[in-house]
Amino acid sequence: MWANEWVGTSACVFLHSYNNVSRMTRTPRHVLITGGAGGVGRALAEAFTVRGDAVTLSDLPGDRLEALGRELGVATLGLDLTDAAAIPAAIESAVRSHGPVDVLVNNAGILHLHGTVTELPVADFETTIRVNVLGTFAMTQAVARHMLGAGTAGAIVNISSIGGRQPTPGMGAYESSKAAVDALTRWAAIELGSAGIRVNAVAPGPVDTPMMREGMPEGSPMREGWLARIPLHQLADPAQVAAAAVFLSSPDAAHITGVSLPVDGGQLLV
Ligand SMILES: NC(=O)c1ccc[n+]([C@@H]2O[C@H](COP(=O)([O-])OP(=O)(O)OC[C@H]3O[C@@H](n4cnc5c(N)ncnc54)[C@H](O)[C@@H]3O)[C@@H](O)[C@H]2O)c1
Repeated sequence: MWANEWVGTSACVFLHSYNNVSRMTRTPRHVLITGGAGGVGRALAEAFTVRGDAVTLSDLPGDRLEALGRELGVATLGLDLTDAAAIPAAIESAVRSHGPVDVLVNNAGILHLHGTVTELPVADFETTIRVNVLGTFAMTQAVARHMLGAGTAGAIVNISSIGGRQPTPGMGAYESSKAAVDALTRWAAIELGSAGIRVNAVAPGPVDTPMMREGMPEGSPMREGWLARIPLHQLADPAQVAAAAVFLSSPDAAHITGVSLPVDGGQLLV
């Protein structure tokens, strides 16, 4: 229910009143994207920037992140998500520089530690969980606390994977981590809904990032194997994943929370 809205001098500010809680969202929105220096991260940064949002791109500290930040003309935030203790201060510094966070996209993840259930080293499983699950949880917790404190009716979008719902031999550690991300999405959504904070996920099938093109070139048996599993017979374009995240964060999705939206060309159908 909209109680009031007005246009401020330098920014458009909306005040929502629902369940006796007053909350604000701003325009332009401050969008914090983790894993921002990767293939999907770049597409996310471009999609939110084109929409007019102010993006802070976060990733492991280093030249790759800074170079992409300069190229796209967006702010950067070097942060290792496995260092949970460093996360609140990093968010505070992003807020000091660019204002309260309106949208968090938990996109950081590691996808390379694979092995069968009988062969995968326990340490590889642990590393995958540490980044994909604990990193997503720690960011969600810190940003949700910040949104609650600031009275922001924000949105959180987790980049999951349909692997969390459909097994592929050898990929179970990664897939287990994404099943946990889907559960984390629902958990946060049900608890934060009363504060007007929506939490959703985008669950891509294989995405045609530069890394993917290098590992599975056009015409390679591995790429053909994946294409055979996808009714639309194409890998996801990173921009298609980003478009779903933009939608889920937007007022167009104001009544959607707790979903994990497949962007998979129909792969879950078969
Ligand atoms: N590429 C695909 O086919 C595909 C499919 C489904 C889901 N996804 C998901 O999309 C997201 C992005 O994947 P991508 O293809 O762009 O991969 P990518 O490897 O290009 O990007 C991931 C980014 O996460 C960052 N990262 C890793 N560990 C980190 C840490 N400890 N702290 C901070 N940042 C860290 C990396 O530096 C990297 O820039 C991931 O969550 C992935 O699971 C990808």
